[in-house]
Amino acid sequence: MARLAGRVALVTGAGNGIGRAIAEVFGAEGAHVYVTDVDGAAAEVSAQGITTAGGAATALTADVSRGQDVTQMFRTVAGAHNRLHIIVNNAGINVRSDFRHLTDADWVRIREVNLDGVIRVARDGFELLRLSGAGSLINVASVMTHRGMRQLAGYSATKGAVAALTRALAVEYAAFNIRVNTVAPGFVETGLTERVLRNPMFNKALIDRTPMRRLGTPVDIARAALFFASDDSGFVTGAELAVDGGMTAQL
Ligand SMILES: NC(=O)c1ccc[n+]([C@@H]2O[C@H](COP(=O)([O-])OP(=O)(O)OC[C@H]3O[C@@H](n4cnc5c(N)ncnc54)[C@H](OP(=O)(O)O)[C@@H]3O)[C@@H](O)[C@H]2O)c1
Repeated sequence: MARLAGRVALVTGAGNGIGRAIAEVFGAEGAHVYVTDVDGAAAEVSAQGITTAGGAATALTADVSRGQDVTQMFRTVAGAHNRLHIIVNNAGINVRSDFRHLTDADWVRIREVNLDGVIRVARDGFELLRLSGAGSLINVASVMTHRGMRQLAGYSATKGAVAALTRALAVEYAAFNIRVNTVAPGFVETGLTERVLRNPMFNKALIDRTPMRRLGTPVDIARAALFFASDDSGFVTGAELAVDGGMTAQL
């Protein structure tokens, strides 16, 4: 039996990478998936992949850093389904910079997508989650929530805030039978990490620091998201699941 049969899900930043894998896994498990991305053409490709595989998906163009896009995104879902069982706050960006040289413009851009966007989606998606009767909100943080790395301080700050937001919302939304959890990926080969992982020394150093001796795949992360989306985690809220091959467990 498909684990998400009859559910309606929405994934942000689902045109590529981890978001696409999450959307595909949810689609394969029977959910109708709203595949949303700032890049509408990429969202369309992800949605077509799901429908070609026999699932149900709708592509939407939405930039989570723009209030009117998020409003329109939820309006479209409300018009067609009037409920959402699952929302995955996945869209995220990074701008690498030594912290002392981080410009206001770069910091604002990281924050607008990684934190303001997450807050906006978590707030504006509340009513549709409530209407489902049993909602699951999944925020995508990072190994950088708990570990530091040069040139990633701004990114880390946003992901730490997302993990804190998850716990606070888990407490507040429980009264409405909405669970809120965090998936915290380690290093995964996607467009976001492509450039740095192409550096063989950096790549090797990361693998050496990972007890399981490999990088993650988008599907590794999608399977963890499926756990939080499905009834398998029915009594789990406010939790953070590290999907990092043991990187954060290691001293
Ligand atoms: N990859 C990793 O190693 C890793 C590790 C830890 C956490 N994460 C987190 O995992 C999530 C997904 O990352 P990824 O590696 O899959 O990145 P990715 O391959 O770059 O995919 C992210 C997708 O989100 C889209 N996007 C960017 N800004 C957006 C916005 N304002 N509104 C809506 N969509 C937007 C991107 O579109 P464009 O391509 O047009 O920008 C892209 O399609 C992020 O939150 C990231 O921080 C990733």
